[in-house]
Amino acid sequence: MSIQTVRTVADLRAVVGRWRQAGETVGLVPTMGALHDGHLALVHRARADCARVVVSLFVNPKQFNQANDLAQYPRDEDADRAKLDAASADILFAPAADQMYPDGFSTAVAVGGLTSSMEGIARPGHFGGVATVVSKLLLQTLPDRAYFGEKDYQQLVVVRRMTVDLDIPSEIVGIETVRESDGLAMASRNVHLTPEQRAVAPTLHAELSQAASEAAQGGDCGEICAAALARLKQAGFDPIDYFEIRDAETLDAVTRVRRPARVFVAATLGATRLIDNVAVKP
Ligand code: PAF
Repeated sequence: MSIQTVRTVADLRAVVGRWRQAGETVGLVPTMGALHDGHLALVHRARADCARVVVSLFVNPKQFNQANDLAQYPRDEDADRAKLDAASADILFAPAADQMYPDGFSTAVAVGGLTSSMEGIARPGHFGGVATVVSKLLLQTLPDRAYFGEKDYQQLVVVRRMTVDLDIPSEIVGIETVRESDGLAMASRNVHLTPEQRAVAPTLHAELSQAASEAAQGGDCGEICAAALARLKQAGFDPIDYFEIRDAETLDAVTRVRRPARVFVAATLGATRLIDNVAVKP
Protein backbone atom coordinates (compact mmCIF):
# COMPACT_ATOMS: atom_id res chain seq x y z
CA MET A 1 0.00 0.00 0.00
CA SER A 2 1.55 3.34 -0.98
CA ILE A 3 -1.07 5.76 0.38
CA GLN A 4 0.12 7.58 3.50
CA THR A 5 -2.19 8.09 6.49
CA VAL A 6 -1.79 11.44 8.24
CA ARG A 7 -3.48 12.21 11.59
CA THR A 8 -2.40 15.73 12.46
CA VAL A 9 -2.63 19.15 10.84
CA ALA A 10 1.11 19.69 11.43
CA ASP A 11 2.02 16.50 9.54
CA LEU A 12 -0.41 17.36 6.72
CA ARG A 13 1.14 20.81 6.34
CA ALA A 14 4.66 19.35 6.33
CA VAL A 15 3.87 16.94 3.47
CA VAL A 16 1.87 19.47 1.44
CA GLY A 17 4.65 22.04 2.01
CA ARG A 18 7.21 19.66 0.45
CA TRP A 19 4.93 19.15 -2.58
CA ARG A 20 4.52 22.90 -2.94
CA GLN A 21 8.28 23.45 -2.84
CA ALA A 22 8.58 20.94 -5.67
CA GLY A 23 6.00 22.99 -7.62
CA GLU A 24 3.30 20.31 -7.51
CA THR A 25 -0.44 21.07 -7.66
CA VAL A 26 -2.67 19.71 -4.90
CA GLY A 27 -6.28 18.46 -5.00
CA LEU A 28 -8.42 17.91 -1.89
CA VAL A 29 -11.41 15.57 -1.69
CA PRO A 30 -13.23 16.10 1.63
CA THR A 31 -15.23 13.04 2.77
CA MET A 32 -16.80 11.49 5.84
CA GLY A 33 -15.68 8.02 4.73
CA ALA A 34 -17.89 5.00 3.91
CA LEU A 35 -16.56 5.55 0.41
CA HIS A 36 -18.51 4.49 -2.68
CA ASP A 37 -18.10 5.07 -6.41
CA GLY A 38 -19.49 8.61 -6.03
CA HIS A 39 -16.53 9.54 -3.80
CA LEU A 40 -14.12 7.68 -6.06
CA ALA A 41 -15.32 9.73 -9.05
CA LEU A 42 -14.15 12.83 -7.12
CA VAL A 43 -10.79 11.18 -6.41
CA HIS A 44 -10.36 10.13 -10.07
CA ARG A 45 -11.07 13.67 -11.22
CA ALA A 46 -8.65 15.11 -8.64
CA ARG A 47 -6.06 12.55 -9.78
CA ALA A 48 -6.52 13.64 -13.40
CA ASP A 49 -6.32 17.38 -12.56
CA CYS A 50 -3.61 17.56 -9.88
CA ALA A 51 -0.12 16.18 -9.26
CA ARG A 52 -1.05 15.26 -5.66
CA VAL A 53 -4.32 14.19 -4.07
CA VAL A 54 -5.33 14.46 -0.41
CA VAL A 55 -8.55 12.77 0.71
CA SER A 56 -9.84 13.77 4.13
CA LEU A 57 -11.90 11.38 6.22
CA PHE A 58 -13.60 13.02 9.17
CA VAL A 59 -17.11 12.26 10.40
CA ASN A 60 -17.84 15.82 11.44
CA PRO A 61 -20.01 15.86 14.58
CA LYS A 62 -20.90 19.54 14.09
CA GLN A 63 -22.94 18.87 10.93
CA PHE A 64 -25.20 16.18 12.41
CA ASN A 65 -28.36 17.54 13.94
CA GLN A 66 -29.43 14.14 15.31
CA ALA A 67 -27.25 12.12 17.70
CA ASN A 68 -28.47 8.74 16.37
CA ASP A 69 -27.62 9.72 12.76
CA LEU A 70 -24.05 10.48 13.89
CA ALA A 71 -23.83 7.26 15.93
CA GLN A 72 -25.12 5.13 13.04
CA TYR A 73 -23.07 6.79 10.31
CA PRO A 74 -21.16 3.91 8.59
CA ARG A 75 -17.43 3.81 9.37
CA ASP A 76 -14.70 1.52 7.95
CA GLU A 77 -11.38 3.32 7.70
CA ASP A 78 -9.39 0.25 6.56
CA ALA A 79 -11.77 -0.43 3.67
CA ASP A 80 -11.72 3.28 2.75
CA ARG A 81 -7.91 3.34 2.78
CA ALA A 82 -7.74 0.30 0.46
CA LYS A 83 -10.14 1.98 -2.02
CA LEU A 84 -8.14 5.21 -1.94
CA ASP A 85 -4.89 3.32 -2.42
CA ALA A 86 -6.39 1.60 -5.48
CA ALA A 87 -7.47 5.04 -6.75
CA SER A 88 -3.85 6.30 -6.31
CA ALA A 89 -4.62 9.02 -3.73
CA ASP A 90 -1.42 10.21 -2.03
CA ILE A 91 -2.67 11.00 1.48
CA LEU A 92 -5.55 9.93 3.65
CA PHE A 93 -5.97 12.73 6.18
CA ALA A 94 -7.94 11.16 9.04
CA PRO A 95 -7.75 13.44 12.08
CA ALA A 96 -9.31 12.62 15.44
CA ALA A 97 -12.09 14.91 16.67
CA ASP A 98 -9.76 16.67 19.16
CA GLN A 99 -7.38 17.50 16.31
CA MET A 100 -10.16 19.31 14.44
CA TYR A 101 -11.94 20.70 17.49
CA PRO A 102 -9.44 20.97 20.38
CA ASP A 103 -10.54 22.08 23.83
CA GLY A 104 -11.69 25.67 23.73
CA PHE A 105 -12.69 25.60 20.06
CA SER A 106 -15.15 28.50 19.76
CA THR A 107 -15.42 29.52 16.11
CA ALA A 108 -18.29 28.90 13.71
CA VAL A 109 -18.52 29.80 10.02
CA ALA A 110 -22.02 30.83 8.95
CA VAL A 111 -23.10 31.33 5.33
CA GLY A 112 -26.31 33.33 4.94
CA GLY A 113 -28.96 33.31 2.21
CA LEU A 114 -28.17 30.08 0.40
CA THR A 115 -28.60 28.13 3.64
CA SER A 116 -32.10 29.44 4.42
CA SER A 117 -33.99 26.79 2.39
CA MET A 118 -34.18 22.99 1.99
CA GLU A 119 -31.41 21.30 4.08
CA GLY A 120 -30.95 24.54 5.99
CA ILE A 121 -34.53 24.25 7.26
CA ALA A 122 -34.76 20.46 7.55
CA ARG A 123 -31.43 20.13 9.39
CA PRO A 124 -30.90 23.15 11.66
CA GLY A 125 -27.20 23.79 12.26
CA HIS A 126 -26.11 21.44 9.47
CA PHE A 127 -24.60 24.05 7.15
CA GLY A 128 -22.85 25.82 10.02
CA GLY A 129 -21.09 22.53 10.75
CA VAL A 130 -20.29 21.93 7.07
CA ALA A 131 -18.99 25.47 6.50
CA THR A 132 -16.86 25.33 9.65
CA VAL A 133 -15.22 21.99 8.86
CA VAL A 134 -14.77 22.66 5.13
CA SER A 135 -13.16 26.05 5.79
CA LYS A 136 -10.78 24.33 8.24
CA LEU A 137 -9.93 21.56 5.76
CA LEU A 138 -9.30 24.11 3.00
CA LEU A 139 -7.08 26.24 5.24
CA GLN A 140 -5.22 23.19 6.55
CA THR A 141 -4.49 21.84 3.06
CA LEU A 142 -4.61 25.00 0.91
CA PRO A 143 -5.34 22.91 -2.21
CA ASP A 144 -5.40 24.32 -5.73
CA ARG A 145 -8.77 22.59 -6.17
CA ALA A 146 -11.30 20.90 -3.91
CA TYR A 147 -13.88 18.44 -5.21
CA PHE A 148 -17.53 18.10 -4.12
CA GLY A 149 -20.37 15.97 -5.49
CA GLU A 150 -23.46 17.53 -7.07
CA LYS A 151 -25.55 15.05 -5.09
CA ASP A 152 -25.23 17.52 -2.20
CA TYR A 153 -25.89 20.41 -4.57
CA GLN A 154 -26.90 22.94 -1.92
CA GLN A 155 -23.69 22.12 -0.02
CA LEU A 156 -21.67 22.66 -3.22
CA VAL A 157 -23.22 26.10 -3.77
CA VAL A 158 -22.74 27.06 -0.09
CA VAL A 159 -19.07 25.95 -0.13
CA ARG A 160 -18.45 27.93 -3.35
CA ARG A 161 -19.93 31.08 -1.78
CA MET A 162 -17.95 30.62 1.44
CA THR A 163 -14.67 30.09 -0.42
CA VAL A 164 -15.15 33.29 -2.43
CA ASP A 165 -16.32 35.29 0.59
CA LEU A 166 -13.37 34.21 2.78
CA ASP A 167 -10.77 34.67 -0.01
CA ILE A 168 -9.70 31.05 0.28
CA PRO A 169 -7.43 30.54 -2.75
CA SER A 170 -8.90 27.20 -3.90
CA GLU A 171 -11.13 26.43 -6.88
CA ILE A 172 -14.26 24.47 -5.94
CA VAL A 173 -15.04 21.81 -8.53
CA GLY A 174 -18.50 20.17 -8.69
CA ILE A 175 -18.75 16.59 -10.00
CA GLU A 176 -21.88 14.98 -11.43
CA THR A 177 -23.79 12.54 -9.22
CA VAL A 178 -22.88 8.87 -9.70
CA ARG A 179 -25.95 6.61 -9.83
CA GLU A 180 -26.73 2.92 -9.54
CA SER A 181 -28.01 1.37 -12.79
CA ASP A 182 -31.62 1.95 -11.63
CA GLY A 183 -31.02 5.66 -11.01
CA LEU A 184 -30.56 5.68 -7.21
CA ALA A 185 -27.89 8.23 -6.29
CA MET A 186 -24.93 6.59 -4.55
CA ALA A 187 -24.84 7.60 -0.88
CA SER A 188 -23.18 6.25 2.24
CA ARG A 189 -26.56 5.94 3.99
CA ASN A 190 -27.96 3.61 1.24
CA VAL A 191 -26.49 0.65 3.19
CA HIS A 192 -29.26 1.19 5.78
CA LEU A 193 -32.06 0.44 3.24
CA THR A 194 -33.79 -2.94 3.55
CA PRO A 195 -34.15 -4.94 0.29
CA GLU A 196 -37.81 -3.81 0.09
CA GLN A 197 -36.90 -0.16 0.60
CA ARG A 198 -34.00 -0.47 -1.86
CA ALA A 199 -36.50 -1.62 -4.51
CA VAL A 200 -38.64 1.51 -3.93
CA ALA A 201 -35.75 4.00 -3.57
CA PRO A 202 -35.15 4.59 -7.34
CA THR A 203 -38.65 6.14 -7.53
CA LEU A 204 -37.00 9.25 -6.14
CA HIS A 205 -34.82 9.70 -9.23
CA ALA A 206 -37.68 8.76 -11.56
CA GLU A 207 -39.85 11.53 -10.04
CA LEU A 208 -36.99 14.06 -10.19
CA SER A 209 -36.43 13.24 -13.87
CA GLN A 210 -40.13 13.52 -14.71
CA ALA A 211 -40.41 16.84 -12.87
CA ALA A 212 -37.29 18.17 -14.62
CA SER A 213 -38.67 17.29 -18.03
CA GLU A 214 -42.11 18.83 -17.28
CA ALA A 215 -40.48 22.00 -15.92
CA ALA A 216 -38.17 22.25 -18.95
CA GLN A 217 -41.29 22.19 -21.15
CA GLY A 218 -42.64 25.26 -19.33
CA GLY A 219 -44.93 23.64 -16.75
CA ASP A 220 -45.93 25.31 -13.47
CA CYS A 221 -43.29 24.32 -10.92
CA GLY A 222 -45.69 24.38 -7.96
CA GLU A 223 -48.11 21.99 -9.68
CA ILE A 224 -45.33 19.69 -10.90
CA CYS A 225 -43.81 19.42 -7.43
CA ALA A 226 -47.15 18.90 -5.66
CA ALA A 227 -48.00 16.01 -8.01
CA ALA A 228 -44.58 14.38 -7.60
CA LEU A 229 -44.77 14.76 -3.82
CA ALA A 230 -48.17 13.05 -3.72
CA ARG A 231 -46.86 10.11 -5.78
CA LEU A 232 -43.81 9.74 -3.54
CA LYS A 233 -46.08 9.67 -0.47
CA GLN A 234 -48.09 6.95 -2.19
CA ALA A 235 -44.88 4.98 -2.84
CA GLY A 236 -44.09 5.03 0.91
CA PHE A 237 -41.73 8.00 1.42
CA ASP A 238 -42.58 9.65 4.73
CA PRO A 239 -41.81 12.31 5.73
CA ILE A 240 -40.92 14.22 2.57
CA ASP A 241 -39.04 17.30 3.72
CA TYR A 242 -39.20 19.04 0.35
CA PHE A 243 -39.66 18.53 -3.38
CA GLU A 244 -38.83 21.86 -4.97
CA ILE A 245 -37.57 23.49 -8.13
CA ARG A 246 -35.02 26.24 -7.54
CA ASP A 247 -32.59 28.40 -9.51
CA ALA A 248 -29.32 26.49 -10.01
CA GLU A 249 -27.17 29.42 -8.91
CA THR A 250 -29.13 31.48 -6.37
CA LEU A 251 -31.32 28.59 -5.07
CA ASP A 252 -34.29 31.00 -5.21
CA ALA A 253 -37.68 29.30 -5.74
CA VAL A 254 -38.94 29.47 -9.32
CA THR A 255 -42.48 29.22 -10.64
CA ARG A 256 -41.52 28.69 -14.30
CA VAL A 257 -38.05 27.70 -15.46
CA ARG A 258 -36.38 30.33 -17.63
CA ARG A 259 -32.77 29.90 -16.47
CA PRO A 260 -30.84 26.79 -15.43
CA ALA A 261 -32.62 25.29 -12.42
CA ARG A 262 -32.62 22.09 -10.37
CA VAL A 263 -35.26 19.88 -8.86
CA PHE A 264 -34.42 18.97 -5.25
CA VAL A 265 -35.86 16.30 -2.98
CA ALA A 266 -35.30 15.05 0.56
CA ALA A 267 -37.47 12.14 1.67
CA THR A 268 -37.30 9.37 4.22
CA LEU A 269 -37.84 5.69 3.48
CA GLY A 270 -38.15 3.65 6.68
CA ALA A 271 -35.32 5.01 8.82
CA THR A 272 -33.19 6.31 5.95
CA ARG A 273 -33.28 9.91 4.77
CA LEU A 274 -32.36 10.26 1.09
CA ILE A 275 -31.56 13.45 -0.79
CA ASP A 276 -31.10 13.93 -4.51
CA ASN A 277 -31.43 16.53 -7.27
CA VAL A 278 -31.26 16.79 -11.06
CA ALA A 279 -30.72 19.63 -13.51
CA VAL A 280 -33.55 21.36 -15.41
CA LYS A 281 -32.31 22.76 -18.71
CA PRO A 282 -34.79 25.30 -20.13
O1 PAF B 1 -20.32 15.84 1.85
C1 PAF B 1 -19.73 15.40 2.87
O2 PAF B 1 -19.36 14.23 2.95
C2 PAF B 1 -19.46 16.34 4.03
O3 PAF B 1 -20.50 17.24 4.20
C3 PAF B 1 -18.11 17.06 3.94
C4 PAF B 1 -18.05 17.97 2.73
C5 PAF B 1 -16.98 16.04 3.85
C6 PAF B 1 -17.89 17.91 5.18
O4 PAF B 1 -17.86 17.15 6.33
